[in-house]
Amino acid sequence: MGSVLSRAKLILGAVVLINRALDTLSKRLKTSPGLPVSNPSLPFWTIPKSTISSEGKDLPQDADIVIIGSGITGTSFAYHALKRDSSLRVVILEARDVCSGATGRNGGHINPPLFDGWKDLKERHGESDAKMLIRFRLAHVQDMKAVATEEDILKESQIRVTEHLEVHINREYFEEAREELEGWKTDMPDEAEAFTAFEESQVVENFNLAPGTAGCIWGPGGAMHPYRFVTCLLAKLLDRHSQNFYIATHTPCISITAPSRANPLYTVETPNGSILAPHIVHATNGWVSHLVEPMREKVVPVRGTMSAQRPGTSLSPATQDGLRSFVFHPGGLGYDYLTQLPSGEHELMFGGGWASAFDSAFADIGVSDDSSFSFSVASHLAGALPLYFGTGSWGKEKQPDTSDDDGGIKWGEGRTKAQWGGILGISADGLPWVGRLPRKISGRAEPPTTCTPRERSGSSGKTETETSTSDSVDDVVVRDRLRTASPGEWIAAGYTGEGMVHAWMSGKALACMVQDAEDEMKDWFPEMLRVTEDRWKKANLEEFISRRL
Ligand SMILES: Cc1cc2nc3c(=O)[nH]c(=O)nc-3n(C[C@H](O)[C@H](O)[C@H](O)COP(=O)(O)OP(=O)(O)OC[C@H]3O[C@@H](n4cnc5c(N)ncnc54)[C@H](O)[C@@H]3O)c2cc1C
Ligand SMILES: *[C@@H]1O[C@H](CO)[C@@H](O)[C@H](O)[C@H]1NC(C)=O
Repeated sequence: MGSVLSRAKLILGAVVLINRALDTLSKRLKTSPGLPVSNPSLPFWTIPKSTISSEGKDLPQDADIVIIGSGITGTSFAYHALKRDSSLRVVILEARDVCSGATGRNGGHINPPLFDGWKDLKERHGESDAKMLIRFRLAHVQDMKAVATEEDILKESQIRVTEHLEVHINREYFEEAREELEGWKTDMPDEAEAFTAFEESQVVENFNLAPGTAGCIWGPGGAMHPYRFVTCLLAKLLDRHSQNFYIATHTPCISITAPSRANPLYTVETPNGSILAPHIVHATNGWVSHLVEPMREKVVPVRGTMSAQRPGTSLSPATQDGLRSFVFHPGGLGYDYLTQLPSGEHELMFGGGWASAFDSAFADIGVSDDSSFSFSVASHLAGALPLYFGTGSWGKEKQPDTSDDDGGIKWGEGRTKAQWGGILGISADGLPWVGRLPRKISGRAEPPTTCTPRERSGSSGKTETETSTSDSVDDVVVRDRLRTASPGEWIAAGYTGEGMVHAWMSGKALACMVQDAEDEMKDWFPEMLRVTEDRWKKANLEEFISRRL
């Protein structure tokens, strides 16, 4: 080793490896993500199971809106749509248990990208639109908390403001982050007021992190229990709208048939029968391009790996028992993220590890199978925590609390209690896709404007009732019930690993769009998220990735 020749051989070997990985990757990106697998790995979040986890009764034959997917997007859409119009007939189709996609498997952070990428965002979209996107992200923690409070599920959903730390191990990266923070502070001083950069000595002293940490950026953030938030809300909706809201679990949508002369609505096919509907909402995120093929390579499934770990015995001053959240940047491509449960064994919910090994950078991209997780990432996660906090702050390994009975599930008895995989959706231009799917992108014709199931059964049409001057209660009800935009397919997806600061308000905006109430969202919805044919043509994954490197 060490001779010129063997170095050349090593480099050649590396190039061959990378090329092979890229070849496999480009094939994977062109392949359908398919339906969610039927044997997903078990996320710690979903135990104990929700009482509605395998909800379902006979499918109705038709509906006003069929939502595909029961994660936070589908739930937000259903919540806001039914709030606006409590008689709307809404069906959620879910391929597996309720909330068994990314929302039930994630890191639980409500942490908006703020200064990170700010300059690029401003240059590409202009300062005013860029600010609107930042405010849209920031609104999530308060908006979800307000709903959880109103619905009396705050305790279950654990939505809380945290002290958030962006921790840098590498000094150069820390300096870059600090510069980005300064740039953002100049442009958005009010929002940025609390954010502060701390140097190595302060980090060790104030936050009990490992000696040698380069520094951190400190500011407000948020954390939650997404599975409980979603399942508790859905349970409330089922109660409240028992006649007109259905969830059908273990009922995948296998295809959508465009309207025809004989049947002017969409036919949504499942193995349990089909539903006719004028509106379809795609809330399937990483899987969206299975049913919407033109979205392939625009929303790309990526497998993430998560773990639940017991904290070391001395760790609580560093993590504040769940009131602090962290993102660790070891230097290089990937990063790791940590929240902590505020109760139980105060488990550390720890994920990330992307590109932590040379050959793992591409291995999870284009993967839609969450029955397993990456070996090298899981190994990284299992070892990294005491390194980030330092052996002093970590203390001894904690003994398992054996009084904990999780319905017979045998968690790991060491530091790592559980590990699982989850599928997120990377957007080819880095921004979520929210809105009506133009025909070119859905690949299907829309039902004619005049056609809704109610009109078929003889109620009056929208224009007629809107111009009606009658004030009778019946008329008002009819008008509200029929208030939807013209029929079509709709999407909210592609949050690029940041669903808790995009999905809830995207679902809310989508409900405004479908219910023809766009004036209600014009003050807060960033138009850059809307689906347009032009944006779709331009969105290019390679360009997005190279911009972010
Ligand atoms: C490991 C991991 C960690 C993450 N950590 C964070 C984090 O800390 N903070 C953050 O902001 N974001 C995080 N994310 C991203 C976030 O979880 C997602 O952006 C968000 O949950 C997406 O919600 P969704 O409802 O759109 O999709 P999902 O929750 O994935 O829901 C889609 C649903 O559609 C169902 N489905 C798919 N196809 C069909 C079909 N054909 N028929 C019927 N049903 C179907 C699926 O089973 C699934 O239940 C993470 C993601 C992962 C995977
Ligand atoms: C659809 O069929 C599957 C498999 O038989 C079943 O588990 C599920 O409960 C059915 N769904 C509905 C809504 O009937």
